[in-house]
Amino acid sequence: MKHIDPKDISVREIQKLMSGGVAPRPIALVSTISAGGAINLSPFSFFNIFGANPPVVAFSPTRRGRDGTTKDTYDNLNETRECVAQAVTHAMVEQVNLASSDYASDVDEFVKSGLTPIPSDLVKPPRVKESPFQMECRVTQIIPLGTDPGSGNLVICEVVRFHIDEKVIRNGVIDPDLIDLVGRNSADYYTRASGSAVFTVKKPASRIGVGFDQLPEHIKQSCILTANDLAQLAGFEQIPDEAEARDFISSFEPLEVSEPVFDEWSKDYDYRKMLQGALATARTDRARARHHLELTVKAALYRNDLDTAWKVVLYMNMI
Ligand SMILES: Cc1cc2nc3c(=O)[nH]c(=O)nc-3n(C[C@H](O)[C@H](O)[C@H](O)COP(=O)(O)O)c2cc1C
Repeated sequence: MKHIDPKDISVREIQKLMSGGVAPRPIALVSTISAGGAINLSPFSFFNIFGANPPVVAFSPTRRGRDGTTKDTYDNLNETRECVAQAVTHAMVEQVNLASSDYASDVDEFVKSGLTPIPSDLVKPPRVKESPFQMECRVTQIIPLGTDPGSGNLVICEVVRFHIDEKVIRNGVIDPDLIDLVGRNSADYYTRASGSAVFTVKKPASRIGVGFDQLPEHIKQSCILTANDLAQLAGFEQIPDEAEARDFISSFEPLEVSEPVFDEWSKDYDYRKMLQGALATARTDRARARHHLELTVKAALYRNDLDTAWKVVLYMNMI
């Protein structure tokens, strides 16, 4: 590990470090308007939501690194205290990047980026038509976090109206594949939050898992089960009892198979067949059977069958 005291590196290095380690960050494409009516559009990835009641978002237009001056967005928000924060999708990321260029304050980045302004309902700054998720906001607080180059300005806003393109909603939720958002990492890296980048983790919500400390030692040492696998087992509410596990396992017919066939089942996460194969192996080769049983646990976890996974874990101690 590297251990760094922020006092020992430049502001530029700090920013690089933080944007790599706190990533991917959501991006707000923020439209504002000056007191004189000049429209501005810029992206901000120091951005997130902070509550739903009232709905609050915050972002930080920092002071410019080169000379410590404030950005147009910040100045406009101080003057008119309204903005629209919109989500950034993969289809618009290059235009958003263009809007981040440091144009003079009288230049409208809608014009430069080619993004389309449409009127808002409750605030003066226009919305960005291309974004499927737009939030009309009123500023509630602006908190300067310093006065030197690179220092932040926390802009806290209340959302007064949401606009969502119905095309991105499936089964009542905004679907990651349909909205296809991008996030910001460090340097020129971005993350596309759709396709294989998206996965699910079941919420613990109402169930209280048995915890890591209750896992049997023999599986904690496993080279096959990862920390994520073990945490899934630890999230199960109640460890099945051993008799139950034995009965369950004995309901499976052992099935002699070659290693390549077992590998095929493993690739398909066919944990029931794998269990049958492992039971046959257990008759002649205990070490290999344990290896196959661990693979079976992993496949059952992949298929979200925690009950079977746990019963196989318990059975491993019986052979
Ligand atoms: C994806 C992306 C995210 C950005 N995030 C921030 C940010 O969180 N804070 C910031 O001050 N600048 C950020 N920038 C840079 C600003 O967009 C840039 O300084 C812009 O010129 C500010 O415009 P303004 O002076 O018109 O407000 C980001 C740029 C990009 C491309």
